[in-house]
Amino acid sequence: MLGFMSFLRVLKLLIILICISIVHVGCLDFSYPSFSNENASDFISSNFPFIIKNAIQVTPDNAREIDMRRRSGRVLYNQKLKLWDGPRGTKASFYSTFVFNINPWTSPGGEGLAFIITEDSSLPNNSAGQWLGVVNSTTVNLLNIVAIEFDTKKSDSEDIDDNHVGVNIKSIYSIKQEPLIGHGVNLSSGEDITASIQYDAKSEKISVFVFSTRTGETGEGNFDNPLLNVHLDLSTQLPADVWVGFSASTGENTELNVVKSWNFSSFEIRRRNRKKQMEEDELEIEQEIQSLSTAPQKFRLQELKDATRDFNVAYKLGKGGFGMVYKGILNNREVAVKRILKNTRHGKQDFLAEVTTISNLHHRNLVKLFGWCYESNELLLVYEFMPNGSLDKFIFREADTILSWERRHGIICGVARALDYLHNGCERRVLHRDVKPSNIMLDSEFNARLGDFGLARTIQVNEKAHYSTKEIAGTPGYMAPESFHTRKATVETDVYAFGVLILEVVCGRKPENEHGIVDWVWENYGMERIGDVVDVRLNGDFKKGETECIVMLGLACCHPNPYERPLMRTVLQVLTGEAAAPVVPKEKPAFMWPATLSPIRQEFAASISGGELTTTLDLSGR
Ligand SMILES: *[C@@H]1O[C@H](CO)[C@@H](O)[C@H](O)[C@H]1NC(C)=O
Ligand SMILES: *[C@@H]1O[C@H](CO)[C@@H](O)[C@H](O)[C@H]1NC(C)=O
Ligand SMILES: *[C@@H]1O[C@H](CO)[C@@H](O)[C@H](O)[C@H]1NC(C)=O
Repeated sequence: MLGFMSFLRVLKLLIILICISIVHVGCLDFSYPSFSNENASDFISSNFPFIIKNAIQVTPDNAREIDMRRRSGRVLYNQKLKLWDGPRGTKASFYSTFVFNINPWTSPGGEGLAFIITEDSSLPNNSAGQWLGVVNSTTVNLLNIVAIEFDTKKSDSEDIDDNHVGVNIKSIYSIKQEPLIGHGVNLSSGEDITASIQYDAKSEKISVFVFSTRTGETGEGNFDNPLLNVHLDLSTQLPADVWVGFSASTGENTELNVVKSWNFSSFEIRRRNRKKQMEEDELEIEQEIQSLSTAPQKFRLQELKDATRDFNVAYKLGKGGFGMVYKGILNNREVAVKRILKNTRHGKQDFLAEVTTISNLHHRNLVKLFGWCYESNELLLVYEFMPNGSLDKFIFREADTILSWERRHGIICGVARALDYLHNGCERRVLHRDVKPSNIMLDSEFNARLGDFGLARTIQVNEKAHYSTKEIAGTPGYMAPESFHTRKATVETDVYAFGVLILEVVCGRKPENEHGIVDWVWENYGMERIGDVVDVRLNGDFKKGETECIVMLGLACCHPNPYERPLMRTVLQVLTGEAAAPVVPKEKPAFMWPATLSPIRQEFAASISGGELTTTLDLSGR
């Protein structure tokens, strides 16, 4: 344990030394034990005056006779921080400690304060209330901003409580949050609270410490145990030059959001020797893969080069997530070799995620992974070869073979079984996160094999959603409407993508715009013209009842309200005829956010025990 003041002094000396000797990245450094009016020009503020009683008032204070409700505000340091320099160049690490005080003006108070790192200095319009001055309903996911929120109001189902700290990326929903009450901190107690944000660019980690002045006395905090620890590479989320400071808001409930002191220090992390870094990466990957219970085979780069005639274009099978796929011949056996694009930012992480996830999964409707190779900065995965390629070829493009209705039905069932296995059938729940026809492979019998686990992330069943499932990912057209608000993958977002897939397989066409195919099919269904949506290439050769049932199932999966979508278990039961197709309204319901559980579903949910529905209902985490 390191005393807080001595900790600051040591780091400060270090930073000054580094900053004198070089560069521009990460040399922002300042310290305000308190604020006076003479310091005002050092800041950019959305309100005036903002320095009152030796402190920064982030939202307007009560000195002026204005209505304090529904206000938001921002105060930023007037020089930018250089976070990084060139995509593979140097990066800045920083730490910032500040003392803030939230005085609830009403009981309870609201809404909270945030430490922000942002591309845009200006306060968004209509960012009061739940938006904390961070984003508003239109800038969500559009502007580059990372916020550490100190939230004093539970404004929606995503908020854990009215006294928590959270890390938010371009959004007001936290990728991770922590209630503070168990740590002896009451944000809206009107007492001074010390917070420290430490960002380590090398380990790509942001740590948050919060101490109540009451329990932590003079801020002698414990820097061994952060309250929040989030894996985050800011250089992938933010531009090179960013503003740092605070934002805050009030709602119908109001409070004073005051910052009393603020230290900020940053320093440069130099790029490591590339060759050494590569060797370290190789070793790390090798160790991680070898530690798997069913480790796939390791191949040499030369073997795979020979197998694919040096990645000859003539051997190209297509483009998968994160890279090209080639056909290869290894020991007289046909294989598919995926070459991961080197310039994908998280190449190494995606590679490991895919290998780790898929190695632990065994199901006849999943593509089999044979082996892997990581050498000379080349990342390669070797899969079982699928003679019939991917499904998109058959439904969107002119293929010699027209998929018969029976085959289409079989493919839908196969994908449903694979997804049910991922969601409910294996030790750890896996979300696929990118279900779409180009990720469905067809074997020689046209059985569906779900592939491309690059985006898959494992989450422990019965455990709260792992934060990494919240990085938004997927393909437009297959993304559930709520994912634009929550930025996270859930069982329901997989079901939504599967619903779109069902409709595409039936209709033989692509979504023309965002929700094109869903709207189009829904309209036809409303007019009782399901027959009109079925692929014309089938020449009417399909079972009417079965088609109707499947279309309704597809629409149910695409229900705008995630809680109304069926679980994969139910989907399978409908497909096997054990259950009737879910009844869907004739008109597509409007998308509402936040979504609520209908009384009928609530009853249903209550009647099902634990596991299966916990993740479905758990939308925790702003
Ligand atoms: C803030 O202003 C005071 C003068 O009132 C000055 O002494 C102090 O150095 C200033 N702080 C910084 C960090 O510039
Ligand atoms: C959100 O803020 C931006 C920037 O200030 C503004 O252009 C936009 O109109 C705001 N949206 C709403 C709903 O007020
Ligand atoms: C936090 O402090 C406020 C103001 O004193 C008080 O109303 C509230 O009950 C406290 N919350 C908890 C959980 O103790």
